[in-house]
Amino acid sequence: MPPFLDTLPARLGRRAVALVALAALPSPLLVLGAAQQAGAQRRIVGGSTASTADHPWMVALSSRKQFGSAHSGQFCGGALVTGTKVVTAAHCFYDESTGRRTDRPGLRVVLGRDDLRGTAGREVAVTNVWIDPDYSFAANTRDVAVLTLAEAQPERPVIELVGPGESEPYAEGTPATVFGWGDTRGDGSYSPVLRQVTVPIVSDAVCGHAYPAGGDTAYDARTMVCAGEERGGKDACQGDSGGPLVVAGRLAGLVSWGTGCAEAAHPGVYTRVAAVAESVRSVL
Ligand code: ARG
Repeated sequence: MPPFLDTLPARLGRRAVALVALAALPSPLLVLGAAQQAGAQRRIVGGSTASTADHPWMVALSSRKQFGSAHSGQFCGGALVTGTKVVTAAHCFYDESTGRRTDRPGLRVVLGRDDLRGTAGREVAVTNVWIDPDYSFAANTRDVAVLTLAEAQPERPVIELVGPGESEPYAEGTPATVFGWGDTRGDGSYSPVLRQVTVPIVSDAVCGHAYPAGGDTAYDARTMVCAGEERGGKDACQGDSGGPLVVAGRLAGLVSWGTGCAEAAHPGVYTRVAAVAESVRSVL
């Protein structure tokens, strides 16, 4: 990423990476500076296809406003943690440009559907959206929400949350797998089929260096955790938000934010489930 992008406001910056890459195509200078550098690495980016048969707790959040209902109206990911509750990211219910709560008309949870072009599995209505009371849109801290399903799913396997205060799942280098239907290249190429990629947990020191305090996109080690390869190439991306980061079979993180996607030295940033587990448990 060129240095000038670092000076842009956070949210603009994150969006701008993709926009600049597209807008800059006719300009050889910018192509070399920005797009080309990250281009080869941008490719859930760098992963493989996955199935809800193997990961039955993986769900899509859908709204009829999204994509005019193509792609099953998917706008975020989530994970089933009890027969009636889905954990996802709070920012899935906020407008990126205004920073205000946004309506998700016809909000549904889609279970057991690998390919969003089809109608497999089931769609269940949502009766309540709980947002962590200490969530900050500006700082991206405590980016967690819990949805209540209108119909219980007693047969469907759930995923266990990492417990309050646990640190072992976040040891540097621990393999973590993220799932989603998001962008596969950082250019709006949303995947119709579920994908997954495994990335190592990044230390607080390294992530704090990648996203230093003072900037709008600061890493907060208390409420966030980073994962990604130093050289980039593998990451979550737009549309994967709220989706699970799984460590040793348990929910350790939620896709939250990042500068660009799969860029070298800019790991993906996830909600640290251990930090929000107590609050989440109180509403399960
Ligand atoms: N905020 C994005 C979303 O709403 C998720 C971005 C994750 N980015 C990353 N590089 N891991 O879908």
